[in-house]
Amino acid sequence: MSLFNDIEKVLITTDDLQARIAELGQEMNTVYSDDDLPLLVCILKGAYMFMADLTRHLTFRHEIDFMEISSYGKSTTSSGVVRILLDLETNIVGRNVIIVEDIVDSGTTLDYILRNFATRNPATVRVAALLSKPSRRRIDVPVDFVGFEIPDEFVMGYGMDYAEQYRNVPYIGVLKPEVYQRI
Ligand code: PRP
Repeated sequence: MSLFNDIEKVLITTDDLQARIAELGQEMNTVYSDDDLPLLVCILKGAYMFMADLTRHLTFRHEIDFMEISSYGKSTTSSGVVRILLDLETNIVGRNVIIVEDIVDSGTTLDYILRNFATRNPATVRVAALLSKPSRRRIDVPVDFVGFEIPDEFVMGYGMDYAEQYRNVPYIGVLKPEVYQRI
């Protein structure tokens, strides 16, 4: 059976995602210039699609790097324990950093990254997050560029997984409840 049959509903369509990401790109184009030479840091794995689409709208010179962060355990909610699975290749001393996240939920992951980056002495750090779930926030974290604020539902697709699957779904959706029993 196709993985698409596991999806109960579409929360954000592909068209709406692409339109909003284009707007975010335009917004960032007004903030940054070539001289800033920002470093966009994609937080793997969930942000890979957002990063790829977002950077295609940027007109200022920039560089990219990747960092893989994970919460311990696999469940639909984050466990609160964060670890670095892959660190940056780039030295960010004096750099203008833009953290690119797929979703800010409790804020635990982003808070960890921001505190970690602060010890590396970058010039500036801003955050671009495709999705934010304000109702779930446990730590108040600054998000400079937000795509969509969403309700407290477990979402997948457009880079985001359930049990490491569904990342390829080209929209943001919600799974049928029975899927959580099966996988
Ligand atoms: C997700 C997401 C954020 C984090 C948000 O990552 O990509 O990094 O959880 O949750 P929080 O605000 O409660 O910390 P996940 O650990 O699922 O890893 P993945 O991106 O590799 O799927």
